[in-house]
Amino acid sequence: MAEPAVSAHEVRKIYHRRGAPEVTALSGVSLEVRSGERVALLGRNGAGKTTFLKIASTLLAPTSGHVEVFGHDVDRTPGEVRPLIAVVPQEGKPFFHLTPREQVYTYLLTRGFARAEARRRTDEALGQMELTEVADRLSVTLSGGQRQRTMVATVIATEAPLLFLDEPTIGMDPFARRGVWASLRSLTRKGSTILLTTHYLDEAEALSDRLYIVERGRVLVDGTSEGLKRSTGGSLRVTLTGPAATPEAFGSFGRAYPETGALHVVTTPERLPELLSFALRQQVTAAVGPVTLEEAFLRVVGRSIDEES
Ligand SMILES: Nc1ncnc2c1ncn2[C@@H]1O[C@H](COP(=O)(O)OP(=O)(O)OP(=O)(O)O)[C@@H](O)[C@H]1O
Ligand SMILES: [Mg+2]
Repeated sequence: MAEPAVSAHEVRKIYHRRGAPEVTALSGVSLEVRSGERVALLGRNGAGKTTFLKIASTLLAPTSGHVEVFGHDVDRTPGEVRPLIAVVPQEGKPFFHLTPREQVYTYLLTRGFARAEARRRTDEALGQMELTEVADRLSVTLSGGQRQRTMVATVIATEAPLLFLDEPTIGMDPFARRGVWASLRSLTRKGSTILLTTHYLDEAEALSDRLYIVERGRVLVDGTSEGLKRSTGGSLRVTLTGPAATPEAFGSFGRAYPETGALHVVTTPERLPELLSFALRQQVTAAVGPVTLEEAFLRVVGRSIDEES
């Protein structure tokens, strides 16, 4: 079996700053990303996602524990790791005085690509990110989403064996996000591995083979988005509105919880006809949809918050 792309064991990170209290950002993260996988790290703000990506991409030393990238320890042999990876950092910006074309092209040259190959890849990546029209304007004149697309273009052009993308589609419109998804899928078809973070759970669902939910510096759960959704107790969510839509009346059909003036019930297709005819008799309006990853995330993380407090 091929070596894992990322293998992390009990990674801890405590930030120390003189005169400031210590911050424990990671308290024992173990995870594995297999070669060729697309894996998402999910978690609330401050959960430790960026800290983990920085450690795994050789930008930050762990306090203890270790991470291997394709078998190389990131802390002891960063020089072996760096040629194998490319990173879209959180809130990174392209150089203001370069155009997107110059930015992508020079980055490829510094990574050792020959000029002709660098030019070909630059054109291709700019095209994939739909930046061709603005490719020769200074980055300082680009919109926020166009700058972010430039960051992603720079990294996908490398076709590095392992890509770390920290909120790669932040600020992008729905078309641009789908463009990124398509490019990342095509990269993994060619053999790359992807570890990304995102707060867009539809993106995590569309893109990742597997995901980890991180909370307070620990892995809470890992699995597929399908598996995680199943753990909510059903595949359907029925949204009920009307005076009689109460947890007491509908709780027997599945987990029922009120939100924004409606009652949501997570249930199974088998229970649905009965639920709908009951709702009709109670003069309650019902809308049926699939359970989303967002729902599963809120449940899993919410339960952990309740247990801590
Ligand atoms: N340089 C630093 N010095 C001190 N504390 C830090 C530093 N960087 C991050 N932290 C803290 O470490 C914790 C984890 O931060 P991190 O940036 O890894 O979270 P995150 O999961 O990426 O969050 P977000 O979704 O907001 O990007 C937070 O409590 C944060 O305040
Ligand atoms: Mg972050």
